[in-house]
Amino acid sequence: MFPHPLIEQYHQAGQGQVFVFFNELNSTAQQQLLAEAAEIDLAEVARLTRTLLHQTVVGRDNSGLAPAPYESLPETGGSTTEWAAAKAAGEAALRSGRVAVFTVAGGQGTRLGYDGPKGTFVVTPVKAKSLFQVFAEKILAAGRRYGRPLHWFIMTSHQNHAATEEYFRAQRHFGLEPARVHFFRQGRMPAVDYGGKIMLEHHGAIALSPDGHGGSLRALERSGALDLMAREGIDTLSYFQVDNPLVRAIDPAFIGWHLRRGSEMSSKTVPKAYAAEKVGHFCMQGGRLVVVEYSDLPMAMQQEADATGRLRFIAGSIGIHVLDREFIRRVAEGGEGVALPFHRADKKIPTIDSTGQPVKPAKANGVKFEMFVFDALPFAKNPVVIETRRGEDFSPVKNATGVDSPQTCRDDQLRQFARWLRANGATIETDASGLPSAVVEVGPLFGYDEDTFAEAWNRLHPKPAIAAGLYLG
Ligand code: UD1
Repeated sequence: MFPHPLIEQYHQAGQGQVFVFFNELNSTAQQQLLAEAAEIDLAEVARLTRTLLHQTVVGRDNSGLAPAPYESLPETGGSTTEWAAAKAAGEAALRSGRVAVFTVAGGQGTRLGYDGPKGTFVVTPVKAKSLFQVFAEKILAAGRRYGRPLHWFIMTSHQNHAATEEYFRAQRHFGLEPARVHFFRQGRMPAVDYGGKIMLEHHGAIALSPDGHGGSLRALERSGALDLMAREGIDTLSYFQVDNPLVRAIDPAFIGWHLRRGSEMSSKTVPKAYAAEKVGHFCMQGGRLVVVEYSDLPMAMQQEADATGRLRFIAGSIGIHVLDREFIRRVAEGGEGVALPFHRADKKIPTIDSTGQPVKPAKANGVKFEMFVFDALPFAKNPVVIETRRGEDFSPVKNATGVDSPQTCRDDQLRQFARWLRANGATIETDASGLPSAVVEVGPLFGYDEDTFAEAWNRLHPKPAIAAGLYLG
């Protein structure tokens, strides 16, 4: 007789090792372990072990891969009329209140070496605002502009959920209505060893980790966020990653392209800066739109050039999408062959051995499973990819130093502010890369894109002197 039916299920599934130290735990720890075990879908783990762990062919099937088409910006050959119509349609959608914002903030920020929730990381040059504050102010400003305050969904992880909520409370939600800011945790997946056995982190805890940003689709469903959207008349979700303060969190033209095409999921692209840039690639395969990660596209293909010398697989993915609510539900429910696939990542997983002694592995000793949100694209009707200006939409903070670091992100923000000022007649000294010598900052409540900045700046009388420390907010 097992002390709990769940333990029996684990034994029947060949995963009884999860409970091998159960009798040594006090009752609180026993309850915690049972709660963790209840989170796991044993049939799913068995399927992933069969398909991903024991697969003989490792790596992606890249047969028939071709570059995906995308809608170019007007300055690179796109139709000015189409872009204007898209913007008008997006603005109408924002005025009618059918759009909400969604940030995935469940990542662990390991590469950055920052301990707190990544969204609390400070990024702006003068006021030292955090990523979350920048997004909050963009959302507040857009809500005011279109006369419809926006709902903001934030996906956290088990690790950073409480700290994220506490941070927003302490900051009074940066002026947003707390009832419109919704936090929910993403799901977790257990790590398995190379025999497919679920691993323990210690006697009373399973080695669980976030299920990837693709888990956001089922987390939106499970948390009730989709139902809330339906009740509020929201059918369109503007999605971005927590690491990118330059993002146009609410971009009418992007929303308009998505709606006018009757798309279920749309994406933004920037031309890759160089062949080895670590971004995903928009491609076509078997008539469907797919994103192929940098790690899955052989370097020879990443370096291929077309007749004009331009990279053939030029369309980089920057983790910015618009999604239709009912499409999310369909994928989350996984019906009709639309379930997101899992990806396998071999990792060094701290664990315990069969005698309960801690093991700090020197090489990979197991596998984690993650889903990626862009894997929903092949299931979407009429997906559209639009080009965006890198300097106006993308400068993530990923690494402590070097590319995509706090320094490059700060410089890109400064270049953007300088560009906006100059475009509106201000004199500001910059180097050849557009980096101003004076450290200035434009707060989103003053202007959060070229249009809103121009309007606010042109209303200002007298104009402030451009000098180090200038803050427009
Ligand atoms: C990601 C994309 C890549 C894209 C690049 C652009 C993947 C696998 N690759 O790379 O195609 O070109 O961004 O910046 O996504 N997150 C969660 N939960 C998780 C895992 C991640 O919420 O379980 C969030 C993170 O908080 C972050 C975002 O997803 O906001 C991106 O995750 P990350 O692992 O940093 O992706 P990259 O490898 O940088």
